[in-house]
Amino acid sequence: MSKALVLCGGAGTRLRPFTFASAKQVLPVANKPIVHHIMEKLALAGINDAGVIISPEKGSIVKHCLGGGDRWGISVTFIEQNRPAGLAHAVAAAREFLGECPFLMYLGDNLAEVNLRDYWQDFLCGSDDAAAFLKEVDDPRQFGVAVIADSGRLIKVVEKPAAPPGNLALTGIYFFRKTIHGAISRTKPSQRGELEITDAIQSLIDTGGSVKGHVMGGWWHDTGSVEDILQANSVVLKSMEHRPPQGEACPFSTLEGPVIIGEGSRVMQSLIKGPVIIGDRVTVKNSFIGPDVSVGDSCLLDGTKIENTIIMHGCNLAGVTLKDSMIGSCCSTHKRNAGNGCHRLVLGDHSHIAMD
Ligand code: DAU
Repeated sequence: MSKALVLCGGAGTRLRPFTFASAKQVLPVANKPIVHHIMEKLALAGINDAGVIISPEKGSIVKHCLGGGDRWGISVTFIEQNRPAGLAHAVAAAREFLGECPFLMYLGDNLAEVNLRDYWQDFLCGSDDAAAFLKEVDDPRQFGVAVIADSGRLIKVVEKPAAPPGNLALTGIYFFRKTIHGAISRTKPSQRGELEITDAIQSLIDTGGSVKGHVMGGWWHDTGSVEDILQANSVVLKSMEHRPPQGEACPFSTLEGPVIIGEGSRVMQSLIKGPVIIGDRVTVKNSFIGPDVSVGDSCLLDGTKIENTIIMHGCNLAGVTLKDSMIGSCCSTHKRNAGNGCHRLVLGDHSHIAMD
């Protein structure tokens, strides 16, 4: 068994209104829940047994989204964390599932362009206590920050420092051996009241443990806010394999660049400028869509101009110009008098907006 722990608990307050009704890890990026992208990564790494941390409030949503994990060939065990008391607290909650095994830990709101397979195999064959994936960032203050030696070993890690000791952020992908459990038991809650995995890693280092740092070259996104999710959507769309639309799906329309159009969807008298993904059973009429747009299943877009936006399933949008927006499922917008105003909307599920 090759084990992983995926953290899908937490409160997700920065992603309200979506997290009132949903969990942030199931929000769609390129028409696929974030946690599905993660499961694909884990399957590629050779993981076949995943514990998934869930919260009491939103756990059922994550369960419904992942099911038993069959489609990735991964056996999924859901583990309820009674409160969002920190990443190390989540590991402690999974103690029984993890047993004495090494495990790959992946934060459920992170997307990264990295192939973990070789790193994971090397870790299993080696003797390091832990490894952490790092990424150079412009402003590290909002992340855990690591300092590494020339050997590639971590010397120091600190969580969200006001004065960062470097620009290498902890990305939320870690490998651990059973020594992490002792380190967690030595860790005290931080100033923000959480049991930080960063502090547990520092404790490992302080007690002579070996923690390897891997600096990632590809893109990485923490999808903690609407802006982050839109950026992740754009990057994932650009990196997807695009299939040209089949059959007579696009009368009197122009499709430029990479575009995916789902089954049963029709695009009429419209310009689609990729990268764009359009789900199944969608109708697009008299519209300009793209670039960087995802449209969920069963939507109707009529007379719209839409750029850099995520639209979830079941929406009915008419006559609106949208940019940098995120529209929850089953929303409708209607513009009564045609005008050229461009709007940035963040709408929770089932919202209805009429504009004059
Ligand atoms: O995104 C990378 C950052 O993630 C790292 O640089 C930080 O070192 C690390 O602490 C973490 O910081 P965040 O503040 O971004 O963590 P967040 O609260 O967003 O939680 C990350 C994931 O873990 C998310 O899917 C929710 C889940 N979670 C979080 C907490 C606090 C749990 O499952 N249980 C929890 O108690």
